[in-house]
Amino acid sequence: MCGIVGIVGQTPVAPLIVDALKRLEYRGYDSAGVATIENGELARRRAEGKLVNLERRLKNEPLDGMIGIGHTRWATHGVPNETNAHPHFSNGVAIVHNGIIENFAELRQELKGDGYEFTSQTDTEVVAHLIARELARGVKPVEAAHVALKRLNGAFALAIMFASDDNLIVGARNGPPLAIGHGEGEMFLGSDAIALAPFTNSVTYLEDGDWAVVRRDEFQVYDIDGKPVERQRRQSVGSSYLVDKGNHRHFMEKEIHEQPEVISHTLAHYLDFTQGTSKPLDLPFNFADIDRLAFSACGTAYLAGLVGKYWFERHARLPVDIDVASEFRYREMPISKKSAAFFVSQSGETADTLASLRYCRKEGVPIGAIVNVRESTIARESDVTLPTLAGPEIGVASTKAFTCQLSVLAALTIRAASQRGTITADEEQALVRSLSETPRYAAQVLKLDKQIEKVARDLSHYKHVLYLGRDTSFPLAMEGALKLKEISYIHAEGYAAGELKHGPIALIDENMPVIVIAPHDRIFEKTVSNMQEVAARGGKIILITDRKGAAQATVDTMETIILPDVPEFIAPIIYALPIQMLAYFTAVFMGTDVDQPRNLAKSVTVE
Ligand code: F6R
Repeated sequence: MCGIVGIVGQTPVAPLIVDALKRLEYRGYDSAGVATIENGELARRRAEGKLVNLERRLKNEPLDGMIGIGHTRWATHGVPNETNAHPHFSNGVAIVHNGIIENFAELRQELKGDGYEFTSQTDTEVVAHLIARELARGVKPVEAAHVALKRLNGAFALAIMFASDDNLIVGARNGPPLAIGHGEGEMFLGSDAIALAPFTNSVTYLEDGDWAVVRRDEFQVYDIDGKPVERQRRQSVGSSYLVDKGNHRHFMEKEIHEQPEVISHTLAHYLDFTQGTSKPLDLPFNFADIDRLAFSACGTAYLAGLVGKYWFERHARLPVDIDVASEFRYREMPISKKSAAFFVSQSGETADTLASLRYCRKEGVPIGAIVNVRESTIARESDVTLPTLAGPEIGVASTKAFTCQLSVLAALTIRAASQRGTITADEEQALVRSLSETPRYAAQVLKLDKQIEKVARDLSHYKHVLYLGRDTSFPLAMEGALKLKEISYIHAEGYAAGELKHGPIALIDENMPVIVIAPHDRIFEKTVSNMQEVAARGGKIILITDRKGAAQATVDTMETIILPDVPEFIAPIIYALPIQMLAYFTAVFMGTDVDQPRNLAKSVTVE
């Protein structure tokens, strides 16, 4: 989940590396560092905490050098301090690493036995020493790197630099992504194409097991056996602009506000609003020939998939098995040959989701990816990519990617239902029409910001919050709780409202507000009963509903947030907005780091 960068350039590279790291800071922000080669010697600056600390350090103590590597860290092994910050050095070898070296303990023992001293608690430092040991044995740099790579188990993207050669970076990939950027007389390496966007949009992605020798005017990719391999050079798209906050205080606020527009773009990609139909998709199967779907994803993307399950089962009469990817990948689930599998991911790089995809690949079922980053590994390893057109999402807490994932899943449901004949042409038109209204309703919800901000002010005084919902509002309850806990650090849980009496009701008192997500739908009455159970025990209710729901709720609430009356099908998309806004404003009142909350990273490339 760290971000890595390397540049073999023609001007001093440290400022360029910092610029690239800024674009990778979403991957981790526990510490950062840069190393260059100055007069045949390695030189580095590292700093604990955010990238600004490294920038400050470099301002006072600049680095020269026309070749360099850089790193922004999400700590796995070793606390986030300067000593554990990358790059790590060993006798003329400098290294930055994203991932986890699983056999590091054994390698560390072995290297200590050979007299190597460890200055950090990281797993990464073993790689620097392994390479240095080969150099000490007289092996040339490129071969030394190759020998070391063969000793590593685990997940890694690496950039390796040698004091003895200021025209060489070795990159390697096994798991986390690594892209090579092609310039004019200069070359770049980066964890993703966004990092390299200011320098080049001509990119080669390494595949798992690949390693590459990168010099100013040439590069060569090899497989793990050292055999040269060809990898396609692509024009990277959509990443050439620097993302900024515009007039907003935080990226998260900006991204919440972008939703009417990006939902609209996403839906227009999949639906023909004039005809009232879903557009044909280039799927390698027909939904009519499928008797089961498997979905997998992590976190918010998983919760989008869970909403999708309700939709597919209800409208397309197609059973969906869904699991969080960290479970899916290991539970050896039998997959029917008449299935298709869909993986949902904003980044397209989440390690567990990718592993689940590979499991399904082995099972031989067709694979679709619902991803925001079109050039990501998950997209590239799928048979078909169904993009969410959310644009770059920078805030660590996912907002617009979630509603765009829901938009794709809704459109896909219509496609499936139409192919399977479980909806009539009129019903298809009605569903498409209801989706066409989503951007307008989303814009109306954004106007409730003053009321939601007021509720958030109250919420920020509590330590625990419970979210309840039924049907598609159940995944939303979990999403509300996830959003709140990750950015405000308030403990929150999301439950199916009907589960309340099976345990969580014991928690209800005046110190635990209960947020109920309940559009006036077929089962609204059931949720009202649950609210009564909460009220009877002195619980304070914040109800998110529509006009009819507010009129029929028959309980006293601490606050009722009334959303527009929306068709049932699109309610999960619309109701996602107030729960995002509630979490956002609460976090702002709590004074937390909204865009980069503690301990988290945007792209989780380790399991
Ligand atoms: C929560 C959040 C995470 C991600 C999860 C999956 O706000 O953003 O739960 O949804 O880490 O990430 P992707 O979608 O990149 O696979």
